[in-house]
Amino acid sequence: MNILVTGGAGYIGSHAVRKLLEAGHLVVVLDNLSYGHRDAVPNEIPFYKVDLKETDRIEEILRKHNIEAVMHFAALISVGESVQKPLLYYRNNTAGAMSLLEAMERVGVKRFVFSSTAATYGEPEETPIFETTKQLPINPYGRSKWFVEQILRDIAVSDSEFGFVAFRYFNVAGADGSIGEDHQPETHLIPLVLFAVMGKRDKITVFGTDYPTPDGTCIRDYVHVNDLVTAHVLGIEALSNGDARFYNLGIGRGYSVREILDAAKNVTGQEIPTVLGSRREGDPARLFANSDKVQKELGWQPQHTNIEEVIASAWHWHTTHPNGYQEPETSSLPK
Ligand SMILES: NC(=O)c1ccc[n+]([C@@H]2O[C@H](COP(=O)([O-])OP(=O)(O)OC[C@H]3O[C@@H](n4cnc5c(N)ncnc54)[C@H](O)[C@@H]3O)[C@@H](O)[C@H]2O)c1
Repeated sequence: MNILVTGGAGYIGSHAVRKLLEAGHLVVVLDNLSYGHRDAVPNEIPFYKVDLKETDRIEEILRKHNIEAVMHFAALISVGESVQKPLLYYRNNTAGAMSLLEAMERVGVKRFVFSSTAATYGEPEETPIFETTKQLPINPYGRSKWFVEQILRDIAVSDSEFGFVAFRYFNVAGADGSIGEDHQPETHLIPLVLFAVMGKRDKITVFGTDYPTPDGTCIRDYVHVNDLVTAHVLGIEALSNGDARFYNLGIGRGYSVREILDAAKNVTGQEIPTVLGSRREGDPARLFANSDKVQKELGWQPQHTNIEEVIASAWHWHTTHPNGYQEPETSSLPK
């Protein structure tokens, strides 16, 4: 299949590009490089530095490469920033997806895979979280994605040839050798813990030690990036007319912050400089997926369910690329 990957220069998108190429697909990447890295995309595949809002240019790219399906990763991803700048998030993530979908409509591209998020569930009353669990996002980031889910449902109703799958990711982690996570600023726990070991930051703050969990810290579901993108390949290959599929992507068990710190200590052989802090607003005690649906319907089976293995792959990436995709002498990673 000829597939356009938006956000293909980002963390997850670059892993998806690699997996799609391995599966024999033709891949074209679109990314405005606001957060992505050109070096994360293989030189031999077509790359367009284009923004989602450029509907006409996207239309041209779709036509030029006879694109049959779109995998849409491009988005802004910081929950905290979305609270400060809601319009930016709705414009980029919601209106951006609409611009992309409009270009697809003009050309007649009918297959769409969407990066949604567990943040669309907000603070769910039940765990594990099922696809049928009520979605009540509690921040603009989560809502910017939830709106796209609703738009996709409406398009599928209006056009019987359209088919989409929306994956709701839990915490994505790990790396694949020469590509990995290089978010600036970084907000995810595992890379931050590893940065503390590497001396790139002073310490890790544990936000809340009095949650109703066995060790008092928050529990989250960590899915390896390669397992996550494997589900995308299965999803895009399974899509047919009229599909409106929603799947959770998590491994179905959670690890507490303390368990992550212990695992990171085992992987790196070093103590993690840690301070204990108070709870953050909007952080539920437990978030983990029930992922039976994607396992049953797409035959997905996560391969990396041992958290130490996940952290080891991230550790390998960070120690071999201490400045991410930047050359060492130009690094400006925050301390
Ligand atoms: N990382 C996670 O744990 C996680 C969890 C849930 C959902 N997601 C979703 O997965 C997707 C990928 O996340 P990631 O961690 O790889 O983020 P990332 O920032 O590494 O990648 C996003 C890419 O999109 C590009 N981009 C952003 N806005 C764009 C625009 N308007 N036009 C063109 N390109 C644009 C950025 O330059 C970047 O390369 C996002 O949609 C995110 O919401 C990620």
